Amino acid sequence: MKAKVENPKIEVEHFRHSERIRQMFARIAPAYDFLNHALSMNIDKRWRKRVTYKLKDILKNPDALVLDVACGTGDLTIEMRKFGSAKIIGTDFCRPMLEIAKEKNLKNHVSIPYVEGDGLNLPFSEGSFDAVTIAFGLRNFSDWEKGLKEAYRVLKFGGRLAILEFSMPIIPGFKQIFSFYFNKILPVIGGMISGSRNAYEYLPDSVSRFPNQQKLAEMMKNVGFSSVEYENLTGGVVAIHLGQK
Ligand SMILES: C[S@@+](CC[C@H](N)C(=O)[O-])C[C@H]1O[C@@H](n2cnc3c(N)ncnc32)[C@H](O)[C@@H]1O
Repeated sequence: MKAKVENPKIEVEHFRHSERIRQMFARIAPAYDFLNHALSMNIDKRWRKRVTYKLKDILKNPDALVLDVACGTGDLTIEMRKFGSAKIIGTDFCRPMLEIAKEKNLKNHVSIPYVEGDGLNLPFSEGSFDAVTIAFGLRNFSDWEKGLKEAYRVLKFGGRLAILEFSMPIIPGFKQIFSFYFNKILPVIGGMISGSRNAYEYLPDSVSRFPNQQKLAEMMKNVGFSSVEYENLTGGVVAIHLGQK
């Protein structure tokens, strides 16, 4: 049976957006980890650890199944695997990012399965997972609401979604300093090292378009999540949003 196309123009635009994003991450994949840690002065590691901590009850359960959507090179996936005994699967639609994630299995003495898949059309059945995580991924989706609906669909009833994403800094003064670094300095360094200035100009640009803390929480509630809450990290540079199906 053919999938129903709602609006062909919008579908084509979504397809083009996804293709641009996939190609962009394929280009920067070899430099991605190094730049992530260097540009954030390793704070990104603490942000992912915090997500893991928020899901600690699920991650400690050996019967639990957790999906890391838009897992990229697998940093959060590995962090969750090492934390507890739950089974973790990583999925992403960019093969070069997944290849790096797979290489890291050996180095980290883990054997996480990685599945190529689109966060807007996940290759998993309804009600499969006890938790779904999306770290720095949702912002890149062509349709944020659809991404949230997909996460909701694959969660079991009672399952939890955790989103780690750049957000709106809340401390006056720091907000301006961070904005200067993020918009002016980061694209230059990121561009030089990765060889793709576009990708590191896209980063602040995509963050400025992404919903702030309150709006993302609202969007999650509209999709059907309950017990929605968020925590600002590093003065709101990033936030963790949590919700339950
Ligand atoms: C900034 S990276 C984040 C990777 C990883 N989660 C982390 O914390 O470092 C964004 C990832 O989202 C993936 N991505 C973007 N849109 C996607 C989509 N529609 N479906 C699956 N993956 C997607 C990209 O391929 C990329 O690997």
